[in-house]
Amino acid sequence: MDHRSIESDDAETPTQQRSTGSPSTETAWSRGQGACKAADLFTEQYATAPHGVWASPGRVNLIGEHTDYNGGLCLPIALPHATYAAMSRRDDDVVRICSRVHGEVVTWQGTLGEILRRKVKGWIAYTAGVVWGFHDAGYQCTGFDVALESCVPLGAGLSSSAAVECAVALGLDELDGFGLAADDRGRAELVDIAVATENTVVGAPTGGLDQAASLRTQEGRALLLDCLDTSTRQVPFDLAASGLQLLVIDTRARHSLNDGQYASRRASCEQAAALLGVDTLRQIDDLGAAIAMMPDATTAARVRHVVTEIQRVQDFVALMDAGRVLDVSPLMNESHESLRDDYEVSCAELDVAVAAARSAGALGARMTGGGFGGSAIALVREVDGAAVQDAVRAQYREHGFIAPKIHGVTPGRSGARVS
Ligand code: GLA
Repeated sequence: MDHRSIESDDAETPTQQRSTGSPSTETAWSRGQGACKAADLFTEQYATAPHGVWASPGRVNLIGEHTDYNGGLCLPIALPHATYAAMSRRDDDVVRICSRVHGEVVTWQGTLGEILRRKVKGWIAYTAGVVWGFHDAGYQCTGFDVALESCVPLGAGLSSSAAVECAVALGLDELDGFGLAADDRGRAELVDIAVATENTVVGAPTGGLDQAASLRTQEGRALLLDCLDTSTRQVPFDLAASGLQLLVIDTRARHSLNDGQYASRRASCEQAAALLGVDTLRQIDDLGAAIAMMPDATTAARVRHVVTEIQRVQDFVALMDAGRVLDVSPLMNESHESLRDDYEVSCAELDVAVAAARSAGALGARMTGGGFGGSAIALVREVDGAAVQDAVRAQYREHGFIAPKIHGVTPGRSGARVS
């Protein structure tokens, strides 16, 4: 799991420095398999069985990128790939964490006091930091033991970090009797807790897309998330019924959201909003006038991306509602171009994947997630799936890139207790 490499680049452990590769993107565990793996690790480490196992998934975003922290719209689906947290409550203030990373088990032991003073860094922050997130929201956690296993690929832009935070949040929610996971309103609060953990303890200034996708989606649906008021709508997303397939292409170009690039995009948006006298860029209703007020071409381009991307989400959902799935393809392509040219968060591996997929018959293709590496998605006719995969692999060989990992996905289930 990506406790560290996606959303934090500090404090690499020796284990992580030695590691090579990540779990195959292709292999999502069944919930039963994941629950057994995490429970076995727990028993191996702590010589007793866990009280329960909670799972929470990674995500791909269909469209609506870098809109969440601008009060905009996003449209993620949950992946079948999840992080599994086997957990037990303790009666003291000790917290013990173990996690299998690239086949090796890393461990940590500390106290609630250390966590609340935010003395946790690196991969620990994603797990232990959730205690701080609960505390900040007015909930007091007890000590606990946790063992983590995950099949969400690391550093692939598929939200492995949010999956860790959300699986642990679900476990603590039940072990400490807060009961927030019982309904969507409570789950929205858990999302806020996980986001606060990531922003304040981990130090990555991300929005709420990933955590909402992990905790508030429904199987077979995409989640239309309105980040202005956190309202949601479940949008039926059954590509197979139209003879279509969604491919996820893990470019293997590893990204970080903590190297200043993500923060600088967010800062540009906040600066633009301040200049325009609005709280978020969502409130812009005259793009031309807003652009004319920008201090430079770069800030103008950032604003153009955000405003047009929010409109693309609306158009995408309207087409889905009208049963016109095939017609969403140009919106995916425009989204990629906007992220590449106006927001400047793409990279060579993403651009090559997208171009190769399209040239081999993909109807639409775009980067997904924060960018600077990570994954792309391609909407393909089922009959063209193999040709598209072959074309992307061939182009990667030609460019001398590491071989990508490609697989088809359907919308998975949101986080829940699985054992
Ligand atoms: C990352 C962040 C999200 C969101 C996306 C871009 O995944 O964690 O909050 O900003 O990038 O859409």
